[in-house]
Amino acid sequence: MTGEKMLKQREHWGTRAGFILAAAGSAIGLGNIWRFPYVAYENGGGAFLLPYLIALLTAGIPLLLMEYSLGHRSKASAPIAYRRLFKAAEGIGWWQVGVAVVLAAYYSVIIGWAARYAGFSITQTWADNPDGTEDFFFNRVLQISEGYWDFAWTENGTWVGGVGWPLVGIWVIVFIALFAGVRRGIEMVNRIAIPLLVVLFGILVVRAVTLEGSGAGLNAFFTPDFGALTNPTVWIAAYAQIFFSLSIGFGIMIAYASYLRRKSDLTGSALTVGFANSSFELLAGIGVFAILGYMAFQSGTPVDEQVTGSIGLAFVAFPEIVSALPWGSAFFGFLFFACLVLAGLSSLISIVQVPVAAAQDRLGWSRQKSVITIVGGIGAAAVLFMPMTNGLYVLDAADGAIENFGIALAALVSIIAVAWIARKLPQLRDHANRWSSIKLGWAWMISLGLITPLFLMYMLFQATRERFG
Ligand code: PFF
Ligand code: NA
Repeated sequence: MTGEKMLKQREHWGTRAGFILAAAGSAIGLGNIWRFPYVAYENGGGAFLLPYLIALLTAGIPLLLMEYSLGHRSKASAPIAYRRLFKAAEGIGWWQVGVAVVLAAYYSVIIGWAARYAGFSITQTWADNPDGTEDFFFNRVLQISEGYWDFAWTENGTWVGGVGWPLVGIWVIVFIALFAGVRRGIEMVNRIAIPLLVVLFGILVVRAVTLEGSGAGLNAFFTPDFGALTNPTVWIAAYAQIFFSLSIGFGIMIAYASYLRRKSDLTGSALTVGFANSSFELLAGIGVFAILGYMAFQSGTPVDEQVTGSIGLAFVAFPEIVSALPWGSAFFGFLFFACLVLAGLSSLISIVQVPVAAAQDRLGWSRQKSVITIVGGIGAAAVLFMPMTNGLYVLDAADGAIENFGIALAALVSIIAVAWIARKLPQLRDHANRWSSIKLGWAWMISLGLITPLFLMYMLFQATRERFG
């Protein structure tokens, strides 16, 4: 099938709400529940919120809008959308495809752990581990060469199981969703997952803030450390969190917008998605820190010593906290990990759609062929290689490299290509303004084309000097 023919038959979202749900589903993910709370905490707690909000308003939403406009205008996913700017820019699109492929593999592994932990919550498996939840996670769940494929086995009378099958299950869902297509697959999954997620997560947060000691946790979260504001790595962390959290710079928002019908309000959608994602993120921060406050109250150890890093927070601290709840521990444990799975899955589907859409648009593959090849390939790699490597170290390295320097740098490069080399911001602005009552003007152009890139350059320069100089 030729590219031209593919473009004519391009798939579409059923409704605008369907698109917004899917875009919000992509945005709201592990980054909100699992990454944001500890990043905020490590970067000055309350003081992080200021750089975070500045990054959201001056860079996040403007860049999201640039990607929407780029994808909607060219009706194509990243490689072609960038190629239309100038030939060499196609490389940016493929680079984003490459990053998405790597991200998909490790992102799925974390969802696999969460799915396994949802089951462990009910059986309270970790409670029986004599050396505690940390030992359980590092020596049982991560040392997976043994028992990886065991569906279930009993040890000391408790039910245990490997991560292999949950991970396969996740990839099967991704396969079905993408194979069914944009409207019947992706949109359908998000129509169910996102409302459900909001309700379940709401229950969790209410429970969290009504726990004894939660106030101390919230204080730790909201107490500003203004010294952090002069630290360039804090600013980089805020920008990287916003970009990762809004799924910006991976090509996915370009692809999702390309499935919108002609007369679509891009600006309204970008504002809705941007604020929905950050609201969910702040809510997650409140919930997680309230629970850490309860933990501190229980153990007598101050809140700031409760945080054991990104992975530890969800898979070490949480099981421990949940086991210590006065009532409903199996229920709330299950709820928390089920939320991680729901949020993660809808994001994973969007990440995998990046290479799938690129293969369809640029290589002319059918959707079926793209999905079978790409989901099969990444899924098999994630499932088979996971037991060979220690997933944790790969993840930590990827988190440090990709999420900090990689993401901020990738965003900078795409802005420079669009705004400075191709000088397309005025066209993209006019395109967005055609069907929106919210008109973009000089504020959008200046913050996206001037302030954000200059700021990112300066901050990247400072952070690099700090790290290597
Ligand atoms: N935005 C997602 C999160 O916050 O977890 C992660 C993500 C999804 C990144 C999709 C990139 C992407 F293309
Ligand atoms: Na997010």
